[in-house]
Amino acid sequence: MTDPVSVSFAATDLDAIATAKGTVVVLADEEGRTGPVGRRVNKLTRGALNRLTESEGFAKVKTGQTRTIAMPVGMEAETLVVLRLPKKATQDEARRAGGALAATLGTGGLTLCADKARRAGDIAFGLMLRAYAFDARKTEKADAKGAVTVMVADPDAAEAAFAAPRALAESVFFTRDLVNEPANVLTTTEFADRLLAMKDLGLKVEVLEEADMEKLGMNALLAVGMASVMPSKVVVMQWNGGGDEAPLALIGKGVVFDTGGISLKPAGGMEEMTMDMGGAGVVAGTMRALALRKAKANVVGLVGLVENTVAGNAQRPGDVVTTMKGDTVEVINTDAEGRMVLCDVMWYAQDRFKPAGMIDLATLTGAMIIALGHEHAGIFSNDDAFCGALLKAAGTEGEGAWRMPLGDKYAEQLKSRIADCKNVGGRPAGSITAAEFLKRFVKDDTPWCHIDIAGVALKSGDSPLSPKGATGWGVLTLDRLVADGYEKG
Ligand code: BES
Ligand code: MN
Ligand code: ZN
Repeated sequence: MTDPVSVSFAATDLDAIATAKGTVVVLADEEGRTGPVGRRVNKLTRGALNRLTESEGFAKVKTGQTRTIAMPVGMEAETLVVLRLPKKATQDEARRAGGALAATLGTGGLTLCADKARRAGDIAFGLMLRAYAFDARKTEKADAKGAVTVMVADPDAAEAAFAAPRALAESVFFTRDLVNEPANVLTTTEFADRLLAMKDLGLKVEVLEEADMEKLGMNALLAVGMASVMPSKVVVMQWNGGGDEAPLALIGKGVVFDTGGISLKPAGGMEEMTMDMGGAGVVAGTMRALALRKAKANVVGLVGLVENTVAGNAQRPGDVVTTMKGDTVEVINTDAEGRMVLCDVMWYAQDRFKPAGMIDLATLTGAMIIALGHEHAGIFSNDDAFCGALLKAAGTEGEGAWRMPLGDKYAEQLKSRIADCKNVGGRPAGSITAAEFLKRFVKDDTPWCHIDIAGVALKSGDSPLSPKGATGWGVLTLDRLVADGYEKG
């Protein structure tokens, strides 16, 4: 697994600043004030710091932006960085500011002189998230980053408060690694093995094999994976940190590669479909976070792991399959496979766990990208309060999410001549009809949210808190939802 950079907290020591190696970071507030740390650094550098912070150009440096002095005189550091951050910075501003610092972290390490500034932990957390790099499949690895030391007034308190962010960063990286891995490495078997390894963290992990799924009648899921030489699997992860209350259920689409099947996708860009297990990746990362920080809640995560590919025994357009629920589905398009996987896993989850709420995550539709681009995931729900809590959690964590509508009129697009429903509803409102398909498999009394993460799971450019590639969108949101709504005390 890709390890986060090492972060530790130390008591502010003005004398140690002169000999700190690598990068030294000084904070400047909205007025350009740098406090006692700044006074010491200014003295060491014979006035260079104040020349910078009092310069005309520095007035234009915005919140979260940096200015750099290279090889500062009077210090052993290679780089002196001034980071602009208002005294009352929000969590999001502090994290993004930390993200900006990641570019200044080299092999020599980094000392962040936060002293009495609030949000030192948020800055460090943002730095950690943005410093992620996936080089597991490169023979030439980048030079290892040095350690990050955060100088604060109360290092013990800061260290204690950083336990949860540290667990979260590791979990986000777990998700990003899964999403970034190519499909020849992350087979369904390898995926299941990585989840089984989480037993060591205290999670209960089981794998349903094809024979088990046949007995359960998960024919929609099995039909998707039929043509693959990789065995289809459902992995069930349970975290029982609460009492005897019903769990929250998280369901993830885990299509390790989506060729489209017989309804084959065009060649251009098809390689991106290694990320089609993104929903399963987020569920796995969230379960990891809950276990690492020993959350006082009951949560069960289920992922459907399949490869959607072509062979003589592949399912064809026009086939009719019987789902675990019993509804028959006419497969108009074999490329609408995610919903076929989810419907059986969702039914199984409700049947077995009678969850208090259910959230499914999936890179479900290209239409979601057309609707919301790469800034917001689309949320669909049958329960305003549940949806509101989820949106609030996403807002707190700075992960974009936007509610989309459902409605019977949309469901009508799924009417089939020969079966109970079709698996696609035509081009109009493609993400909504996909959600309506899933809704058929939600029991009446189950509060449910569907999150279409097709646009946010992977990005082609850098983001404030992640480099291009897998983002891990959703791990922070779901962890926050659990922390705020399901944990006791
Ligand atoms: N995995 C894709 C959706 C997708 C597209 C995710 C682009 C991320 C980026 C999904 O299985 C799919 O192929 N959906 C089809 C549905 C259509 C056949 C109704 C789509 O969006 O074209
Ligand atoms: Mn598809
Ligand atoms: Zn897909």
